[in-house]
Amino acid sequence: MRNIIFLEVGMSGKLCERVALVTGASSGIGRATALALAREGARVALVARRGELLQAVAAEAEALGAESLVLPTDVIRREEVERAVAQTVAQWGQVDILVAAAGAYIRAPVLQMTVADVERSMAINFYGVLHAVLAVLPHMAARRSGHIVLISSADGKKGIPPDGPYVAAKFAVAGLGDILRQELRPLGIAVTTVFPGRVDTPMIAHLRVPWISAKIPPETVARAILRALRRRPPELILPFQVQLFVYVSALFPSLGDWFTRVFHLEGWEEGE
Ligand SMILES: NC(=O)c1ccc[n+]([C@@H]2O[C@H](COP(=O)([O-])OP(=O)(O)OC[C@H]3O[C@@H](n4cnc5c(N)ncnc54)[C@H](OP(=O)(O)O)[C@@H]3O)[C@@H](O)[C@H]2O)c1
Repeated sequence: MRNIIFLEVGMSGKLCERVALVTGASSGIGRATALALAREGARVALVARRGELLQAVAAEAEALGAESLVLPTDVIRREEVERAVAQTVAQWGQVDILVAAAGAYIRAPVLQMTVADVERSMAINFYGVLHAVLAVLPHMAARRSGHIVLISSADGKKGIPPDGPYVAAKFAVAGLGDILRQELRPLGIAVTTVFPGRVDTPMIAHLRVPWISAKIPPETVARAILRALRRRPPELILPFQVQLFVYVSALFPSLGDWFTRVFHLEGWEEGE
């Protein structure tokens, strides 16, 4: 079955008629991925809170010839996510692809960090992802096919101060992806966890970053995700220098810490 899906996607070079549900579709990586999917002929269910922005993305998707569904949803609320998935299945009968991109950058130095900071981060960055995964899984399992793409962060491989609340949630997403991938493989469901470095989106518009971790365009991440939908890799770490940094830090944590300090990978908030 997995081979058949690969051929179907690979031969045409298209994701024609595939049903993709994208959370965080109103902005940044989610928006760019939804549009890249639309360009490939997928039908896109657009999930985020800001309905007017989703409408604009839907208009762009439709201009690219794709069908779309606008589903204003707060992913923190499980019942809203379940409703969005049910609406997608009611409209198109299936969900082939989930891209869980909704997230928020919540930083706090550990001495000032509160439990509430971490809860807020977990609510959106972890539970927001979990709600979407659990809502699509029964549909994918019933059809014994599907691809789940979780957007973690390079911060989900190597923590950069003062990102404590965000790092905790992104590591949790990475762990979830790791276990999902192994347990869902026999069911024909692929799982790819994505670990981008800095990406030029509204989320970090206020943050200046050092040249070594320069922001990449969200479209670059979207293109990598589309390639991953064809090749089904377990993980995607990008760009290349971030991949290198992550691997070196995994082998030599102190060297990773040193590199983080010397190159000011935390960046500078506006006004600093
Ligand atoms: N930018 C980076 O440098 C970077 C690096 C690595 C990983 N990431 C990750 O990439 C993902 C996308 O971020 P981005 O950079 O594209 O940021 P962005 O442009 O700010 O987009 C964030 C998206 O998440 C949605 N969202 C936030 N809270 C939500 C909620 N409660 N319910 C539903 N949707 C919600 C937002 O939509 P609404 O506000 O309309 O709800 C928006 O569509 C995030 O998971 C982020 O952690 C980003």
